[in-house]
Amino acid sequence: MLDDVDHILFHEQTILSRLDELARDITEAYTGMDLTVLAVLNGSLIFAADLLRRIPLPLKLDCLSVASYHGGTESSGVVTFDQLSLPDIDDRHVLIVDDILDSGRTLHAICQKLRAETRPKSVRICVLLKKLRPRAEEMEADFVGFDIGDEFVIGYGLDYAERYRNLPFVGVLKREVFESSLPAAGEGAGIAP
Ligand code: IMP
Ligand code: MG
Repeated sequence: MLDDVDHILFHEQTILSRLDELARDITEAYTGMDLTVLAVLNGSLIFAADLLRRIPLPLKLDCLSVASYHGGTESSGVVTFDQLSLPDIDDRHVLIVDDILDSGRTLHAICQKLRAETRPKSVRICVLLKKLRPRAEEMEADFVGFDIGDEFVIGYGLDYAERYRNLPFVGVLKREVFESSLPAAGEGAGIAP
């Protein structure tokens, strides 16, 4: 697994120190409010687990299981929701926690669905990583761990073809790994976020 990593961007200790700061900002923003955190599976699993244990608020936690379909390393914009019903977030402040803001399509689709089908008091977004690139959908995050360049990263919850989520750091995947496994045109590999 380590052989497939080109270089490490953020070591575990760097991530955890940044989470201390993020958790402080989030605690300050939501003190005295009814907060529900919606963690987007699978990518945010490890990030959310470490972040939420640093937030001493009486929050509720729910998960959203979505799949966004990818051709190689780029999302197609087709987002499907795996659960039959959304969590009950009416009249609550909602913080969506996701692994990465890339094209913005996944978070945009989630926000649209929440706005259409639920009545939260507010919806804000927290991501571990934000890619500095033009977005397909207008989408900003309110709480961001780190800005990164337009590179494909793995580890600390982030996957390529469902692998590497358990790496304790965030690293850049070697180009040869995804270039050698790109699907033929029109095939499209389904990779859960
Ligand atoms: P979107 O392009 O913003 O819709 O990103 C959707 C999902 O694609 C994210 O939640 C991630 O699961 C995945 N993704 C985007 N960029 C990366 C990356 O660099 N590494 C691993 N997964 C990524
Ligand atoms: Mg993914």
